[in-house]
Amino acid sequence: MKKRNLVLLAIVAVLASCGGNGKQAKAPVSDIPAYLDYSRPIEERVEDALSRMTLEEKIAVLHAQSKFSSAGVPRLGIPEVWCTDGPHGIRPEVLWDEWEQAGWTNDSCTAFPALTCLAATWNRDMAHLFGKSIGEEARFRGKTVLLGPGVNINRTPLNGRNFEYMGEDPYLTSQIVVPYIKGVQEQGVAACVKHFALNNQEEWRHSVSVKLDDRALYEIYLPAFKAAIQEGNVWSIMPAYNRVDGEFCAHNDRLLKTILRDEFGFDGVAISDWGATEDTKGAVEGGLDLEYGTTSFGHEPGTNSMYDNYYLATPYYNLIKKGVYGTEELDYKVRNILRLIIRTGMSGNLNLGSLNSDEHILAARTINEEGMVLLKNNDALLPVNTDACKKVAIIGENAIKMMTVGGGSSSLKVKKEYTPMESITKELGSKVQLTYARGYVGSASNNYNGVSTGQSLEDDRDPEEILAEAVAAAKEADMVIFIGGLNKDPNQDAEGTDRLGIELPYGQDEVIYALADANPNIAVVMVNGSAVAMPWRDKVKSILLAWYGGSEAGNALAEVIAGKANPSGKLPYTMYARLEDCGAHSFGPETYPGVGQEVTYTEGIFVGYRWADKKNIEPLYPFGYGLSYTTFEYGDMKLSKSSMNENGTIKVTIPVTNTGKCAGKEVVELYISDTESSLERPEKELKGFEKIALEPGQTKNVEFTINADMLKFFDDAKHDWVAEKGEFTAIIGASSRDIKSTATFTLK
Ligand code: BGC
Repeated sequence: MKKRNLVLLAIVAVLASCGGNGKQAKAPVSDIPAYLDYSRPIEERVEDALSRMTLEEKIAVLHAQSKFSSAGVPRLGIPEVWCTDGPHGIRPEVLWDEWEQAGWTNDSCTAFPALTCLAATWNRDMAHLFGKSIGEEARFRGKTVLLGPGVNINRTPLNGRNFEYMGEDPYLTSQIVVPYIKGVQEQGVAACVKHFALNNQEEWRHSVSVKLDDRALYEIYLPAFKAAIQEGNVWSIMPAYNRVDGEFCAHNDRLLKTILRDEFGFDGVAISDWGATEDTKGAVEGGLDLEYGTTSFGHEPGTNSMYDNYYLATPYYNLIKKGVYGTEELDYKVRNILRLIIRTGMSGNLNLGSLNSDEHILAARTINEEGMVLLKNNDALLPVNTDACKKVAIIGENAIKMMTVGGGSSSLKVKKEYTPMESITKELGSKVQLTYARGYVGSASNNYNGVSTGQSLEDDRDPEEILAEAVAAAKEADMVIFIGGLNKDPNQDAEGTDRLGIELPYGQDEVIYALADANPNIAVVMVNGSAVAMPWRDKVKSILLAWYGGSEAGNALAEVIAGKANPSGKLPYTMYARLEDCGAHSFGPETYPGVGQEVTYTEGIFVGYRWADKKNIEPLYPFGYGLSYTTFEYGDMKLSKSSMNENGTIKVTIPVTNTGKCAGKEVVELYISDTESSLERPEKELKGFEKIALEPGQTKNVEFTINADMLKFFDDAKHDWVAEKGEFTAIIGASSRDIKSTATFTLK
């Protein structure tokens, strides 16, 4: 039957159900079908829609119909689901069945900073602003689901996708992901938190199986997903490619049913990662709802049979017809999908969104500025003193390289990306004499998936000549700003591959040494998303982490370098001097990348600073560390009382003063240490943070409230969170190693 006839029939059926006595009575508003009635509770609408669907229609909503969309129910006017990457901006449109660009001219987006930078802001308001802004762009482009944010824990600095995640700490990640999700979903777009779970490396990501104890699972790797569900009310989640305990995440009964649904209470849609579904049995029984990106089974793109062959398509339909499966699982999955569609496209209060608005550009810049981490600033070399420095040499490839193209699924097509050199020239060009030299040639790549930056970075000169030019420029200048780091090429900050080491690529260490010899007034700016080693740390005066800033990368950096913005980011991960200092790299190949397709997390809960503390390792820069152009002084903390019971709370107060000459923001970090416990615990764990803005001379009291939940550890034997009675220490730090004040209290 033609679609049009079906729709007519549906209308007749709906009208018939409104009366049927032949009279032309005007139907009261409440007589519209429940599933279309915005005023009714969601579950009622879901049940009503489900009751009207045929088996064929139910099967059709369970799998993709194109690269990024899946069917709705046209007969009932239930809209399709349209997904888009990714965490940092709205991906350009691709062809229906292919990864190639559709060639639209109106799908350029605002690129927001990478999520590591967002985490480095330690600012919940910035996370909400990020979510709201990207959610508005997704709305404008008609998307139902934003495939992000990513919350996998940074277990190793080698993970190629660290830049898409929020660092190493479960509390920080949880605090940042919740407002991000709310910001997105307030726009009527579902966030899709990913990659569930334990996708902590790209090496062998399609096959590696993770083995770890439950304590590490619950204390380190699950909290951000749990917060996304219980506090952020996230509407969808993406099971990862890898396996856990031998079972693929997309089929992992324990992850997708026991933990996700039974323990965390998730009521959204589990959307497979693209191509992560392996067979029909796993997809039906393992807790997956919606299948995307499965291979084309040898069918030509564009043929209907391609999507009909998805595991949750005809193969599942046939098994239901044969009676192998009943319709209970089917209805469960369809309910989840209907709930998502009703929450988004059928919510009744959708706005139109906006793309590349001035507000979005400003949001991208502000977040990048606020996330920049000043690691070192001897002699206050930054911001550039334009009275003293009349000649500034800018050196390094990342000063001129566009970074929004590349890196995998988070690659973007932006309306305009400012490079550092362009913006620094705009900002300082009239005040100082600027020169540029490349210093080294790393990557000339300028396109990904058919999107090109339009830049040509080929340089055939020999490396000695390129370095000599840079050294000469450095000698001539009053000050050098080296802008390097990583990029979005394979084996750097890119999906699908891990980095090969923590050293800087392309011989940048030698270039920095040579420049520092030529001119001691050198500031190093790192554009990257993962920790790098810095053997030259003592040779340079300033180090600034600028991250991948997106559309406004150059402008944000120029404002910080010129002193118009004061960096206030802190490290969301530990920077190690040597790879062996990281827990994941302390036990040989079993713990990274794995042996025989299995990787064991032997370090357990001791990830990042927890490991460095346990092993007394001096990191290059510790978790939570970051300086400012101003200085802060902490007073002594006061506790409201010295003991509490399980239902009680203790208030912590500490005064912080801006003792420098300019306004700035400080992140005040609260860690808790369990003095004595039946199971080994980390020396300290982040349990609170507040970011405060202070004018010069101003003092503010920062407050935290300690409750028993913050004292708990996960006892695998009991499979429960336990707070043991006894003594604890509250620790206030400016970083995990810069402890300002401590006080003990007891849990009675
Ligand atoms: C990535 C996901 C992404 C999806 C769709 C996969 O390869 O792992 O993060 O959302 O592709 O592009």
